Amino acid sequence: MTTILGIETSCDDTAAAVVSDGRVARSNVVSSQLDLHAQYGGVFPEVASRAHAESISAVVSQAMDEAGTGYEQLDTIAVTQGPGLIGSLLVGINFAKGLALATGKPLLGINHLEGHVYSLLLEPNDADIDFPVVVLIASGGHSELVLMTGHGEYRRLGGAIDDAAGEAFDKVGRTLGLPFPGGPAIERVAANGDATAYKFPIAQTDSPYDFSFSGLKTAVLRQVTVQPSGHGRRKRRRGAEKRAQLRADIDIADVAAAFQDAVTEALARVTIGAARQFHCSEILLSGGVSANQLLRHKMREESSLPLRYPPLALCTDNAAMIAAAAHYRFLAGHRSGLAFEARSSWRLSEQTYAE
Ligand code: KG4
Ligand code: ZN
Repeated sequence: MTTILGIETSCDDTAAAVVSDGRVARSNVVSSQLDLHAQYGGVFPEVASRAHAESISAVVSQAMDEAGTGYEQLDTIAVTQGPGLIGSLLVGINFAKGLALATGKPLLGINHLEGHVYSLLLEPNDADIDFPVVVLIASGGHSELVLMTGHGEYRRLGGAIDDAAGEAFDKVGRTLGLPFPGGPAIERVAANGDATAYKFPIAQTDSPYDFSFSGLKTAVLRQVTVQPSGHGRRKRRRGAEKRAQLRADIDIADVAAAFQDAVTEALARVTIGAARQFHCSEILLSGGVSANQLLRHKMREESSLPLRYPPLALCTDNAAMIAAAAHYRFLAGHRSGLAFEARSSWRLSEQTYAE
């Protein structure tokens, strides 16, 4: 039996949770900064770290109170060490270090992507994972395809070579004048659209397990905006998705549907291909994009393997998933000490239980 406090501040959500046994979230508090960032059409790093600093103490207290847990009952304090925005990560890490010092509890730095994997085990009826499995972690900052052969055993197969899947949704959403974040907005609008009205190509990559969404984003931009002619063209290219003018004859619902279809088709095809190649028993989806219904539908249609995805509230960033991942590391004897540093980039396969 473990009782773990998780803290997550890698991006724009300040989150804390208390989890028992890596399975039962006794509390799961998320303070979203969405309203602060919506005006910028994306996450603004300085605004994010300041907002984390303002709310972290109250968010952690609330998580402890809701769980009815005292600090003396904790086995360890787990905090997201990376990957993420350094200024944001540091707020959570420094707070967790202070708590660990004050309470004498051990500290565990957790990989945010590993957290997304363990968001899949937080429902009461979730069976243990039937390894080997292929895991697609698709969010605003990451699209990673990972072969998981046991708890804490990862081999990175591939991932986004340019824009992450969620980032592509966010950028195309901005092009179409939809609110941030683009993923849910595009999904909503696409429900009334015809995906066959446009054909958007997905670029082939050198590796069968990589994704490239940048060309797709540009194809959408070309299709739907008034193209500048002559001199203006070079100047307009940077940040063009922000400023470009939409063509009057464009049906936004059709574009959203065709774009969503292309992204989810690529994600499903590559993930299912990997699952076959490595004789996997299950396919696991996590990260913000795993909330997408069409992605889930395609995965089910195109493969007969069991499919897992987190409940909606656990698809996006939260701290219960960090505490859940920490449970397995804690049992394997991992402790991080007080000197570890934030990591802006950190691939999942760089860290195993064997370290
Ligand atoms: O995991 P997450 O909350 O944060 C990161 O670690 O990035 O993922 C957020 C991303 C955003 O890019 C958002 O547009 C995307 O997930 N997203 C979706 C959907 N819901 C969120 N993308 C497609 N369809 C959705 N329903
Ligand atoms: Zn995330």
